[in-house]
Amino acid sequence: MTVAGRTYLITGGASLIGSHLADALLEAGAGEVRLLDSFVLGAPDTIAHLLEDRRVRLIRGDILRLGEVLEAAQGADGIFALAGFLTIPMHANPALGVQVNTVGLLNTLEAARFAGVRRVVFSSSVAAYGDAQAETLAEDTPPVIASLSPISAVYGVSKLFGECLCRLYAQKHGLEFNALRFSSVYGERQHARAVNANFIAETYERIRRGERPVIVGDGREVHDYIHVSDVARGCLAAMSGAEHGHVLNLATGVDTSLAEVVQAVLRACGATLQPEYRPDTRPVRSAGGNRLCFSRARAEAVIGWTPRVSLEEGIRRYIAWREARPR
Ligand SMILES: NC(=O)c1ccc[n+]([C@@H]2O[C@H](COP(=O)([O-])OP(=O)(O)OC[C@H]3O[C@@H](n4cnc5c(N)ncnc54)[C@H](O)[C@@H]3O)[C@@H](O)[C@H]2O)c1
Repeated sequence: MTVAGRTYLITGGASLIGSHLADALLEAGAGEVRLLDSFVLGAPDTIAHLLEDRRVRLIRGDILRLGEVLEAAQGADGIFALAGFLTIPMHANPALGVQVNTVGLLNTLEAARFAGVRRVVFSSSVAAYGDAQAETLAEDTPPVIASLSPISAVYGVSKLFGECLCRLYAQKHGLEFNALRFSSVYGERQHARAVNANFIAETYERIRRGERPVIVGDGREVHDYIHVSDVARGCLAAMSGAEHGHVLNLATGVDTSLAEVVQAVLRACGATLQPEYRPDTRPVRSAGGNRLCFSRARAEAVIGWTPRVSLEEGIRRYIAWREARPR
């Protein structure tokens, strides 16, 4: 399915990922990009630049109201199902977060079915692996949930449930889907709702104020940081390629420790401050020990996707964006 001239709906369109995805769709020549958002979490700022393009339509709507998603989906060729609650907002409001991540996606799939939309690309997460340990974490690695903190388990299971719903709608109704397990997404227009990207942002803010960066624990905890532009390209490829019915990791495959993140931000700032180690008292943290090693082989084979932006380059872009914003 070529993107040029086609109509796409992005639920949760005012999101970090949605705003970059809309940029990518417009650049690829999409005929219309509909951004549906209730603004329960997202901010109008994130998409302000997009509204200057006459191909963009902002729809204030709630995916918990089937009629609103259905109306927004009419005539769309594809839906990017991004509306969702990450672990931090889920912890703040589990009653709403659980509904959005489950019933909200169910409504989106219903809307796709009734509106005759061909394909849905669903924003799953590597949180769906839970605490699984393997040489490499590939899409067929069984999840391990029992050892997770309750909120990480609820979030991870909500994404697994979403993948199951996608498979069910494909089986019962022939709806095409690809479910993408994003790792820790960061970049320009970063918000404060993502545990791991927040660490980059907070480290930068401390260094900028001349304060020593803080590392919780021993600094060996690793995450897989992926730049948002790479995620947007992956979403586009998952929508436009011939292949569907897949669950795919969208991850770099590179484990980066908290201590390494701090060093990367220090280098980007040209600072030589010594990090300060503190006990880990974070109320919400994502799964991840000292090794993750997500495989990106399937995404490369199925949708021809590989990440392009290194952590150094991504941090440089993030800082440039942050510097251009008012304090
Ligand atoms: N950011 C990451 O690191 C990451 C990692 C893995 C998966 N994901 C998933 O990708 C998606 C997008 O992530 P993001 O960081 O860009 O999210 P985000 O928090 O920036 O945006 C989510 C958007 O969904 C909207 N929303 C929430 N409930 C809604 C509802 N009922 N109706 C309409 N809109 C609603 C919010 O207002 C917000 O604009 C989410 O589903 C998230 O779980 C993100």
